[in-house]
Formats: sequence, structure tokens, C-alpha cells
Amino acid sequence: MALRIAIIGLGVIGNVHAEVLSTLGTPAAALCDLDAEKAELVRQKFAPDAKIYTDWREMLRDFSPDVVHICTPHDLHAEMTVTALDADIHVLCEKPLCIRHEDIARILAAEERTQAKLGVCHQNRYNAVNVFLKHYLADKKILGAHGSVVWKRTKDYYASAPWRGTMAHEGGGVLINQALHTFDLMMWLCGEPREIAAINGNLTLPGEIEVEDTIAVRCFGMTDYSFFATVGAAHTFPVEMQFKLANGEHVLVLPKTVTVDGQVVETDEITRSFGKSCYGDGHIRLIDDFYRCLAQNEPFPVNGAEAAKVVRMILAAYQSKGERITL
Ligand SMILES: NC(=O)c1ccc[n+]([C@@H]2O[C@H](COP(=O)([O-])OP(=O)(O)OC[C@H]3O[C@@H](n4cnc5c(N)ncnc54)[C@H](O)[C@@H]3O)[C@@H](O)[C@H]2O)c1
Repeated sequence: MALRIAIIGLGVIGNVHAEVLSTLGTPAAALCDLDAEKAELVRQKFAPDAKIYTDWREMLRDFSPDVVHICTPHDLHAEMTVTALDADIHVLCEKPLCIRHEDIARILAAEERTQAKLGVCHQNRYNAVNVFLKHYLADKKILGAHGSVVWKRTKDYYASAPWRGTMAHEGGGVLINQALHTFDLMMWLCGEPREIAAINGNLTLPGEIEVEDTIAVRCFGMTDYSFFATVGAAHTFPVEMQFKLANGEHVLVLPKTVTVDGQVVETDEITRSFGKSCYGDGHIRLIDDFYRCLAQNEPFPVNGAEAAKVVRMILAAYQSKGERITL
């Protein structure tokens, strides 16, 4: 029997989830947003038979879906995830898993006691270049690495939803939001650091947002790496990662290409993007894999424990203020 799928939050990324589910031939059967009009628009485009709710608790209780996709602002992820898992509803939650240490513990405890699966949308791990890179680097020693996210976000972006740019709802700025994926990839490829030092600031929107627009991070561990992220740039440039290997190779990674010592070794021709072009096609790959894992009762690779790693690193970076913090 087909799974009954629900989505909570039908803003920018909720639309992507709804479109992907429709493309996969399993449209959402229930949609929930505080703003019923947003849900109605999604129903018309991607889920013609969906029931509409404005109260997520009522939807989980009365509709009782098999799976819920959580696409709401950061501060709501923990409560919604724990409530759904405790009702044995599978959860696919948007990043970040959560924004507080105590919520990591709550979510992992709920994951432990339920029969349901938890997956988190770290979809860039599914991009072709990153899958290639994971294999390419697996048997090589990395001497040092660096990642950077240099983007531009203006006042208008932060004004587009009330939770953006607020500590209470977003939990931080560029590192926990726009740059989380690349920071997560660095950790996935180089390993979890033992210590982190970071400094951050708000270079372009003081008085407009409460969170950092720029951060520099140094990670110390089996492999050392640095990370720089800003949404206060003069222009948006492609995300970049670089690796210096013990065999002498210099690996440079851009969103669609990997080069080794200047020679292209892998390219990804993204033929269909969902949502903004920078999202690429990672969402459909990840969501498809999540449902494959449910169908085959296999562990999903980015579960709560896996998604918690980058959240711990981010919280340490915020705590650091230039000091080395042990994770
Ligand atoms: N994986 C990615 O690449 C990616 C990209 C964009 C956003 N995101 C994540 O997706 C989440 C949402 O981001 P967005 O850009 O879509 O935000 P958004 O503001 O566009 O959408 C959030 C939606 O949630 C709804 N909402 C808020 N509180 C609610 C509640 N209590 N019950 C029901 N609905 C509620 C809002 O009305 C809104 O429609 C964030 O966690 C963000 O980090 C992930």
C-alpha cells in the first residue's frame, strides 16, 4: 500500500519537497502551513488530493501520516521531529537538525525509542561531484583542506520571512543556514574535528539582523581544515572546497566539477533543478534514497546521529569567540 506522506511548512523548500514527491509519483496526501493559502497553492500545483491543515499537531494526530517532511523554520524542527517520532511517524527533516544542544539529546533519545526512521536533508552529500569525491579521497591522506561559501544576501532576503536573521528562530546566521551543507561536506570528507576555533561578525547588516553574516573557522583533528563563510559578499560566487593530499595532488571542487592538479576528473551536468538553481538535484536523489531505505528497511545514511555532528560543530564555532573549543 502506498505511504501517506505529509509536509509541514510550504515556503521556499516545502515547495521543493512537494514538487519532488510529485515527480517521484508519490504526491503528498496532507499539507500543513500556518498560512492555508500557501498550502492551497502547493495542493494545486503538486498534490491535488491533499488534505490541508493549519495545525501540525492536529494533522499528525488526525491524519496520522506514515511519513512527515518537516520544512519549517529552524527552531521548530526539534519539537516537530520528536512529536512525530514518538507517534512512530517517519520523519524527513530539513537542515539543520536543530539549533540547541539540549535538542540534539531529545531528538537522539526519540530516535532511539521509536520504530520510525529519521532522515535529515543534507542533500549535497548526494550531488554527483561529492559522491565522486567521497570515493576519490577514501584511500588518500589529506594534509589539509579549506572550504568557502561566498554569497550575497540583502536586507530583502531577511525581510522575506520573520524567522530569518533572528537568534531565537534561526539560531545563528550564515554557518547554521546557508553554509551548513559545505561545512557538513568538509566534516564528511575530512572527519570530525577534536577542537574548533572561530570568529564571526556582522559586516553588512548590523542593526538589520541579529546573527552573523560572516564567519572564519579552524578545525583541528586527524585532518586539519579551515572554513570561511559569508553572506555579506559583494557578489555570490560558487561554493569551493580544496584539498592538499599527501601524494602531492591538489584537488579543487566547484559545484559541477572536480579538478586534480588543474585537470578535470569529474563533472556533473545537472539537467533538472528543483527550486533555486543552487539547490541542484540533490533533493530528489536524497528523497528517493530515503523512501528506498524505508521500503527496504535499511538505515538511512543521514540519520539523527549523523546530522547532529555538524550541529555540534556549529554550536562550538559560535561558542568559541576566538578560543579553541573541545568538541
Ligand atoms: N536543504 C536546503 O538546501 C534548504 C534550502 C532552503 C531552506 N532549507 C531549510 O528549510 C527550512 C525552511 O526554510 P524556507 O526557506 O522554506 O523558509 P520559509 O519561511 O520560506 O518557509 C517556512 C514555512 O513554514 C511555515 N510555518 C512556520 N511555522 C509553522 C508552524 N508552526 N506550522 C506550520 N507551518 C509553519 C511558514 O508559514 C512558511 O510557509 C529551514 O530549516 C531552512 O534552513 C533547506
